[in-house]
Amino acid sequence: MANRDGFSGKLGFILAAAGSAVGLGNIWRFPYLAGQNGGAIFLLVYLICIFLLCYPIMVGEIAIGRSAGRDAYGSYTKLGGKRWGLLGLFGILAGVFILSFYNVVAGWAFGYFLNISFGDLLNESDYASYFGGFVNDIVNLKSAEGITKSNLIFSLLFMVITAFIVGQGIQKGIELANKIMMPALYLILLGLIGYALTLPNAMAGVRFYLVPDFSELRIQTVFDGLKQAFFSLSLGMGCLITYGSYLNKDQNIPSSAAIISIADTSVAFFSGLMIFPLVHFLQYKLQITGVATAGPPLIFIVLPQIFQEMGPVLGRIMGGAFFLLICFAALTSTISLLEVHVAYLVDQHKMSRKRVVWILALLIFVLGLPSMMSQGMVPSLNKLLFYRGQDFLTFISDMCDISLTLGGCLVCIFVVRTWKIKNMNVELNYGNSNYQNSFLRTYINFAITYICPVLLGILSVLIILEKFIGLEVLF
Ligand code: TRP
Repeated sequence: MANRDGFSGKLGFILAAAGSAVGLGNIWRFPYLAGQNGGAIFLLVYLICIFLLCYPIMVGEIAIGRSAGRDAYGSYTKLGGKRWGLLGLFGILAGVFILSFYNVVAGWAFGYFLNISFGDLLNESDYASYFGGFVNDIVNLKSAEGITKSNLIFSLLFMVITAFIVGQGIQKGIELANKIMMPALYLILLGLIGYALTLPNAMAGVRFYLVPDFSELRIQTVFDGLKQAFFSLSLGMGCLITYGSYLNKDQNIPSSAAIISIADTSVAFFSGLMIFPLVHFLQYKLQITGVATAGPPLIFIVLPQIFQEMGPVLGRIMGGAFFLLICFAALTSTISLLEVHVAYLVDQHKMSRKRVVWILALLIFVLGLPSMMSQGMVPSLNKLLFYRGQDFLTFISDMCDISLTLGGCLVCIFVVRTWKIKNMNVELNYGNSNYQNSFLRTYINFAITYICPVLLGILSVLIILEKFIGLEVLF
């Protein structure tokens, strides 16, 4: 494919892949999972998963993509034949579902950003019921105060922005957007941490987050840590195969993958370092406890209260900055998800990028509607009978988590049995002539051959059983 677009160089690729990795997973999901799973002990499990299991698979995925130079489906077919192409398609499909619900949550963050910066969000008195109303406000186009609270509009807008950027192509769209948003994201995050650490009782939050309490370690912590690590690094569904296919041969894959993993992990780590001091400040101020374990609504219910405590001007600035940060993070991820599907249709079906982008965006937006309506508006979607009364968004997101860890396991099997470790090593030698004799090579080969497929296989099965039958039965 002679005229295939590509990243301009190392920085462009790393920023884009890190942008894909850094997202709602880091700023929304990581802190609430950490809060529910004992804080520091979750962080520890998470870090082990990242470096033991995820890093080798990330290297493998990028190598597959660069070696084949095609979309996820095309890469598997080229290197392993038509049957393996199914794994590519499976990943692409999983990506469609991820984007469908991800865009809904991104829409909430976008709506909060607009309503904190330009609306009356800071005047509320009860943020739990505000959030409950907010996520159910789908068609009310204009609220009394003049700024819309309609989720339909927020998530549609978010999808339109995503589609617009992806439509511009790799260098002029994806790379450029990441080069602007990623540095901005780091700056906002560091600024907010600096502020959070100066608040009263902040150190109690730091302690909760950094000093592990081993009695809190449960099997659920391991499940949550693993699925979060996969989700956060965008692994297991061909996203990094797709981005890897735009990378040129003189780039060093193991070192790029290390930088991407560290960039992603640091944002998750810093998000915790920002949020737990804020949460403990609030607990201290209102003389309450248990806020950290609030679950999914953590940032939407707890943080606005904190911004309110800061007063009307500072609260608006800090709150606006915080939700803008989340929007940037989410956008660099939605871009990468959409690109997986676009690359498939452009490469395999020779469709025009500009047209495909809009068709897919619309389709996936519509596919997200049940998730959007599952937050209370439609009772049958809010409490799924076959899924232990959980809502549809949780169901879809759980199914995607499972397909990512299973996908990761299959990536290893593909490399070891079909593509062969030796071919992967040839690919990894490009741009890194010392790789052949390095300890890293020995480690990555060992992990992809034994540790990753075995552990991921076992854990995926346990997670599936746990989801459908329940932990009580399992242990
Ligand atoms: N990693 C992103 C986050 O943490 C989400 C994401 C983007 C993703 N692309 C992906 C997740 C591919 C799984 C697969 O928010």
